[in-house]
Amino acid sequence: MFDYNQIIDFDRGKFIRIDVGLEPTFPLFFGYDIEEHFIEILDRETRRHPVDRVFLLTDAFIFDLFGDPFLNKLKQTFPVTDIYLLPRGETCKTFDVLQQLCDELVGKGVSKRSLLIAFGGGSVGNITGLAAGLIFRGIRFIEVPTTITHQTDGMLSNKQAVNGKYGKNNFGLFHAPVFAWADTRYAETEPLRFKRSGIIEGIKNGLIDQNAFLPFLEGAIRRKGDYSSQQLTDLCFKLIRSKLEILKKDPTERQYGIILEYGHTFAHAIEWLSMGALTHGEAVSIGMKIAAELSFKLGYIDGEAVGLHYRLIDDVLALRPALPEHLDPASIFKTMYVDNKKIGTDVRYVLLQGIGQCRKEHGDFLVHVDKKIVKGVIEDFFN
Ligand SMILES: NC(=O)c1ccc[n+]([C@@H]2O[C@H](COP(=O)([O-])OP(=O)(O)OC[C@H]3O[C@@H](n4cnc5c(N)ncnc54)[C@H](O)[C@@H]3O)[C@@H](O)[C@H]2O)c1
Repeated sequence: MFDYNQIIDFDRGKFIRIDVGLEPTFPLFFGYDIEEHFIEILDRETRRHPVDRVFLLTDAFIFDLFGDPFLNKLKQTFPVTDIYLLPRGETCKTFDVLQQLCDELVGKGVSKRSLLIAFGGGSVGNITGLAAGLIFRGIRFIEVPTTITHQTDGMLSNKQAVNGKYGKNNFGLFHAPVFAWADTRYAETEPLRFKRSGIIEGIKNGLIDQNAFLPFLEGAIRRKGDYSSQQLTDLCFKLIRSKLEILKKDPTERQYGIILEYGHTFAHAIEWLSMGALTHGEAVSIGMKIAAELSFKLGYIDGEAVGLHYRLIDDVLALRPALPEHLDPASIFKTMYVDNKKIGTDVRYVLLQGIGQCRKEHGDFLVHVDKKIVKGVIEDFFN
């Protein structure tokens, strides 16, 4: 078990290399204000198969924040570097944008030796990873995540996807980056709402498997988001660790690792229906509360465990999004039936058996629940 209380010095400019342990795995370079080392690592990690040209994929907002120095450094070593600006946030995760992106890269001469760099949050990462997986049946890409969500959760998964007409992440594949580069300096500019949204998956990791992480989080989360660079870096490192401890038990994310989807069946439907009003993390916070209420209704956990969800999310993290008015239980229920955890006509759920432990039935962490019970719990939650 990882000791979440250990103190690690992340001095400015110092980075560590973490093997994420996924299948396939990739190295993650992590630290605060480490950009000056990026080119040396890029050069080293691609030396065996030299790169002919580089495509930097980002959005205009992120480019304005950090783009110029990053691009200049790249161009000094890789003169043939192009930049492609994607629509901002979730709006880039569509088939139309994907096709336009892939065609434009091919038109500009992308080859099997080229490299895509995803410089942004989970949305940029997801569409870049998917494009890299599709172009010529797979070219290389690198993750440079700029949000807490993507540094500590999204990129620790080889899942790449865009959304479809009926729901989130309906079309995608598994494709691993050559390496990931997480510089917590980038995350400092995230608005408080997004910082909170990024931390929610860490609370989830504690509730489903890493209960020793929860007391640490209670002490480390700053309600007003006023983190020093050292505090933010330490928190991000431990958020990463909390996910890696789970992935160690199932690097494929398809057996035990499926517990990482706790609350997500509800969350994906809610996020989708909110039409951009809620962040991914905000939707997950609501989805986790509904999953806790469902676990309670079925008698798997007690009221105290449900109360812990509300305390950590509402009080400690202070993530209390206003629910969009048009969000109604019937639409959420209907939208859940296009979830990617559906089997046949049945949607199954990750549920808790206690704090730090998920319910397992017939050797499976995806549990069948009578539709009427689920519907009732969602209705009660929204009433
Ligand atoms: N593959 C996975 O397992 C996985 C896991 C979690 C989330 N995701 C996906 O990731 C997406 C959410 O990603 P996200 O939360 O990183 O947000 P995002 O990529 O959607 O970006 C949100 C906004 O933040 C801005 N932004 C990015 N970096 C910034 C910075 N440093 N400072 C200020 N603003 C910044 C962007 O311009 C954008 O407007 C969702 O589509 C979700 O489905 C995937």
